[in-house]
Amino acid sequence: KQTGLTGLDYGFVNTSATRSAITYIDGDAGILRYRGYPIEQVAENSTFLEVAWLLIHGELPTPAELAEFDERIRRHTLLHEDLRRFFSALPHDAHPMSVLSSAVSALSTFYQDSLSVHDPEQIELSTIRLLAKLPVIAAYAHKKSLGQAFLYPDNSLSFVDNFLRLNFGTMAEPYEVNPVLSKALERLLILHEDHEQNASTSTVRLVGSTQANLFASVSAGINALYGPLHGGANEAVLDMLAGIRDSGESVQKFVERVKNKEEGVKLMGFGHRVYKNFDPRARLVKQSADEVLAALGVHDPLLDIAKELEEVALADQYFIDRKLYPNVDFYTGVIYKAMGFPTRMFTVLFAIGRLPGWIAHWREMNTDPATKIGRPQQLYIGSDERSWPTSR
Ligand code: CMC
Repeated sequence: KQTGLTGLDYGFVNTSATRSAITYIDGDAGILRYRGYPIEQVAENSTFLEVAWLLIHGELPTPAELAEFDERIRRHTLLHEDLRRFFSALPHDAHPMSVLSSAVSALSTFYQDSLSVHDPEQIELSTIRLLAKLPVIAAYAHKKSLGQAFLYPDNSLSFVDNFLRLNFGTMAEPYEVNPVLSKALERLLILHEDHEQNASTSTVRLVGSTQANLFASVSAGINALYGPLHGGANEAVLDMLAGIRDSGESVQKFVERVKNKEEGVKLMGFGHRVYKNFDPRARLVKQSADEVLAALGVHDPLLDIAKELEEVALADQYFIDRKLYPNVDFYTGVIYKAMGFPTRMFTVLFAIGRLPGWIAHWREMNTDPATKIGRPQQLYIGSDERSWPTSR
């Protein structure tokens, strides 16, 4: 049906594609709540898996529910041995986000007994499998890029500690988890757990609306997250900061180039479709950046450049007029770097954080009787009817 310009909405700026009870955002007031709980309180008091349960099931788990959830996830961390070998078929310099989405897609081939989109038990099993295996896949993508041997998970460790060991431990010596690092990473993952209808979550919903299984839908979400305007921004921010440091260009000069809209020059980690005042996650992350770097005894000149950039931009009319503020990605990269992660792993960390949100949305969509296959309209601007040339 041709609707003319009415209803044409590039980037879905004005169109709600669904109802949802998971996350509330007020972009003008800088408010973010998971199932009603303010993000500031969530970040202070919770664990990653507790929040995952909350997002997926709607209420906080009882201690017994949380213990069982945690235990089940620990029991599913092992990857099928053939899936471990899957990594050796990929080039060692592949981007870990491509490795991640490919391996998650491959989960549909290895775990065919949990592909149902109707059976609640299978859906719960695929949920557990994804939560358990994504961090292992992510760590193997990291190890692969280093050319190091993969470790088997140690299920006596917590979700985050197990992940740290798989990334930074080696076969040669035992790995001691640094509690500062563990706590800081858990907090960052919690801050990323959900963000309502962002591009990757909308992708998971769109793919899921065709009744594609959870692994296939999440793999698509990972690919959507990869782009530098979405999750890939955390990697792009660090590249930008390092570029400024290496070129010796002043921060002022760089900001001028951004304002002049030079080809490919943007202030990465700034601006947000929804937040037009401040991003509450960015405030919490900035706080963490100072604390974590101090606790790890790291001084990084890139953090100084980031702070100067923020100061210059926030005082500049270009950014004020367009309501551009630091977003969650502005300071995360500096922290991940201090933790020892290579730049290319940053968006992978975002994906692990966002996984519970993707699962919660897929499940909500799947049980909402109003769900229909996602199928946007278009405004046709091509040729009118014409005749195929007879002389060809
Ligand atoms: N640097 C310079 N100018 C910017 C920026 C920026 N980072 N972001 C927006 N603008 C300008 C844009 O050029 C436009 O100016 P004008 O009105 O003169 O044409 C105006 O601000 C409005 O921008 P927009 O592109 O229409 O805004 P949007 O809502 O479509 O895009 C965004 C939102 C996040 C994609 C964009 O702000 C951006 O590209 N930021 C940099 C990438 C980034 O940090 N992404 C992470 C987002 S938060 C993490 C997550 O994905 O969840």
